[in-house]
Amino acid sequence: MRKIILSNEQIQDICELIGSQLATRYRFNDTPPVFIGVMKGAIPFLSDLVCHCNIPLLIDYIQIGSYNGTESTGTVILKKDVSLDIRNRDIVIVEDIVDSGISMNFLVDYFTKKYQPKSIVTVALLDKKINRKIPFELDYFGIEVGNEFLMGYGLDYNDIWRNTREVFVPSPEEVKEWDELLSRK
Ligand code: IMP
Ligand code: MG
Repeated sequence: MRKIILSNEQIQDICELIGSQLATRYRFNDTPPVFIGVMKGAIPFLSDLVCHCNIPLLIDYIQIGSYNGTESTGTVILKKDVSLDIRNRDIVIVEDIVDSGISMNFLVDYFTKKYQPKSIVTVALLDKKINRKIPFELDYFGIEVGNEFLMGYGLDYNDIWRNTREVFVPSPEEVKEWDELLSRK
C-alpha cells in the first residue's frame, strides 16, 4: 500500500496560505513579481499556487536536471532558461521539493549572477531538511518531510507518475511494477 503524505485538500490549503502571504508581500509593488517554476516537478504546485495569489504576476519556467532515479547526483545542468527579462525584477523561485539543497543553491546563484534581480524569494511545497548537503533555508514551504522517496503531484520516479493529485510514498510492489514498465523499450 502506498502512504499518502499530502492529500490534494491539504495541498490546496498550503497553496492558499502561501499564496495569500505572497500576495501580501507584493501587493504594493510597482512591477509584477515573476514566479519561476522549476520544471518539471513544480508544474502542478506553481499552477495551484498562483491561483491562490490574487495580485498581478508573471509566470516563467526554468528547467534543470540533477536527479537520477531515487538518488540525487549532485550535479546540476541547465536545460532551459527563463524567457522573460528578469533583470531588476522581484522573482519567486517555485520548487516541488528541496532535498540536498544543491538545486536551489545553483538557481539562486545562477539568477543572481546572470540577471541581477531586485529580490529573490524561494518557495517549495516540501522541505526534506534532514537531507541537506549544503545549507539552504527556504523562505516559504508547505511541510517538512523525512528522508523518504516521495512521488506524485509533480514528483516523479524516473519521469513517470508526476500526474497524481496527492503526494505519496510508493509501495515496493509499485516500484517493482514501474521498473518493469521502464525497462521496456
Ligand atoms: P536537491 O538539489 O537535492 O535539493 O534536489 C531537488 C530536486 O530533486 C527536486 O526538485 C526534485 O526534482 C528532486 N527530488 C528530491 N527529492 C525527491 C523525492 O523524494 N522524489 C522525487 N524527486 C525528488
Ligand atoms: Mg525538481
